[in-house]
Amino acid sequence: MTDLQFTPDGRLKHLITLDGVPKAELEVLIDTAAALRQTALRPVNKLPTLRGRTVVNLFFEPSTRTRTSFELAAVRLSADVVNFDVGQSSTKKGESLIDTLHTLEAMRCDLFVVRHKENGTPALLASHAQPGVAIVNGGDGNHAHPTQGLLDAFTIHRHKGDDFSRLGVAIIGDILHSRVARSDIHALRTLGVTDLRFAAPAQLLTPELRDVGRVFDNIDDAIDGADVVMMLRPQKERMDAAMIADDAAYHVAWGLTEQRLSRARPDAIVMHPGPMNREVEIAGSVADGPRSVILEQVGNGVAMRMAVMSRLLSA
Ligand code: NCD
Repeated sequence: MTDLQFTPDGRLKHLITLDGVPKAELEVLIDTAAALRQTALRPVNKLPTLRGRTVVNLFFEPSTRTRTSFELAAVRLSADVVNFDVGQSSTKKGESLIDTLHTLEAMRCDLFVVRHKENGTPALLASHAQPGVAIVNGGDGNHAHPTQGLLDAFTIHRHKGDDFSRLGVAIIGDILHSRVARSDIHALRTLGVTDLRFAAPAQLLTPELRDVGRVFDNIDDAIDGADVVMMLRPQKERMDAAMIADDAAYHVAWGLTEQRLSRARPDAIVMHPGPMNREVEIAGSVADGPRSVILEQVGNGVAMRMAVMSRLLSA
């Protein structure tokens, strides 16, 4: 993937996965997002960086925050944005995705954000893209969601500072189906986190997690003394109904409540990529509580996507 994502002189040209993205690149993106976040807070929140460039959102799966976030990021960099309507498109008539890409490239589009249920679709398009055209993975299957991994790392950095090596990070919930968890793990490990903890019902874990952190069979031990508690929803659309108990039982066994959160460090932050299910994986009072940075993550996502797009398109 390194060859696909980087030019021979080490410049990022596509963003498909955070696996193999060096620490220095992650740090540049975090610093750039921090600077752009300031712009986003100004009354006139637009920069001319991508004037004359065109960004296409190619979303083959439903999305609220990610698609809007990419659109706002592009608009705030003065790019033109096309939201490709998959429901009305020729992909429904059997046109291959690669032909769709080439068709839009012929109209001089510069950057494509691709979300697809099949793992590997953004990488496939990147391998067929014309020189100078960038592909950004907006989430593929359960493989990767690199901009979410980056915005999560950025959010942690804002609260916990430069030294990731001293942090305990607990990721709780449906890790098996979570592209977010995979990208978070790549980013956090590269940035220096060694104390990674995971907890979920056994059928929602994967064996490789034992290679990168500690796996717990209950939430309480996993969040004990943690600096960051990251909650994931059960991704029911990716599993068969028998895989988990009903919502109420899930909440009792795996939900983050205020009482459970009291086991984490007093200054621990609570994260969730959204969409969240209140009273299932997280109590509403925790989601809205003083340690929650869930809405901040959403805001940081726009700044991080601005950072990614400007880095990819600034030749
Ligand atoms: C996630 C996704 O689509 O992977 N959401 C997001 O992009 N913020 C997580 C999810 O759907 O649970």
